[in-house]
Amino acid sequence: MKVDKLRRIPLFANMSESDLKKISEIVHERDFAASEIIIEERTEPTSFFVIDRGKVEIAKGFEGNDKVVLSIQSNGAFFGEMAILDGGKRSATVMALEKTSVLEIKAGDFEKLLYMAPVLAYRIMRELSIRLRESNALTISSITQKTRQLYRSYIETITMVVQAIEERNARTKGHNKRVTLLSMGIGREIGLREEDMRSLELSALLHDLGLLRIPERIFHKKTLTAKEKELIHKHPLESVNMISSVPMLQNALLPIKYHHERFDGSGYPDGLKGDQIPLLSRILAVADAYEAMTRESPVHSQTNEEEALQEIKRCAGSQFDPKVVEVFAKVLSYSDGPAVEITPV
Ligand SMILES: [Fe+2]
Repeated sequence: MKVDKLRRIPLFANMSESDLKKISEIVHERDFAASEIIIEERTEPTSFFVIDRGKVEIAKGFEGNDKVVLSIQSNGAFFGEMAILDGGKRSATVMALEKTSVLEIKAGDFEKLLYMAPVLAYRIMRELSIRLRESNALTISSITQKTRQLYRSYIETITMVVQAIEERNARTKGHNKRVTLLSMGIGREIGLREEDMRSLELSALLHDLGLLRIPERIFHKKTLTAKEKELIHKHPLESVNMISSVPMLQNALLPIKYHHERFDGSGYPDGLKGDQIPLLSRILAVADAYEAMTRESPVHSQTNEEEALQEIKRCAGSQFDPKVVEVFAKVLSYSDGPAVEITPV
């Protein structure tokens, strides 16, 4: 290989004539067509490559044919040195994105290169360090994005199932979704952490799941027997029992369990008082009550929004946490009204 050709590659540009001569003896020129694989992940390393002309994609594969593109490299860049330096298997796949000419240095010759051109070795190490940092940042951001996508599809699946259950009953249709919107509005106004917003969303969607275990006829009765009341009071615990084995729902268990506690301690199931009641439960209680009052329902008359808010305010300190009620009134006063949009968390 010609020394002049080596000199126009930045990696070799400042090297002495004699070093370039030695390098030219161990460099082989190779051409790859677009989409051709140059390096395959998890194979033994045999060579180190410098791009003379063209463009390559460096990507890492994940389960299920999913891949993360670590970087795109073009003229003058190099790749394949990492596995040669640490002796491990290839950690990524390199594919030509267009017709690409590379200079190949075989593994055995690469070691010689480090001895005969220490300046070049230093440059390679420095570039390698920069690239590692870049690819780490890229991998982290890609994983974060995928986790968010996964979480949103998880929430959408739960929402779909909850809505499908509600569809069968005019009494509860749309209830959980509206309680979720209102709760999230309060949570955001309070400034809850992202993690708590997630727990609040899941709790709001699933808080009344336990009602499915109560015979429907009870909900249509005007007066309830003590036994029937007891049965209804068990629904928060039933909701918890139904979801307690799901790892991702663990932070929703307590908020759901205590969503019918009252601020003055007269609620159920445990008669918790004030701050003993988890904050997320106190939020759910307000959103739940407001939604129940303003909902169109065949079994009770619908209260208008203003009257419902007055009723909530009247019960601040007895049924509800006064601070949460205050925030709730603020959320409702915003020009876009109570239909608070959920922004992805
Ligand atoms: Fe409930």
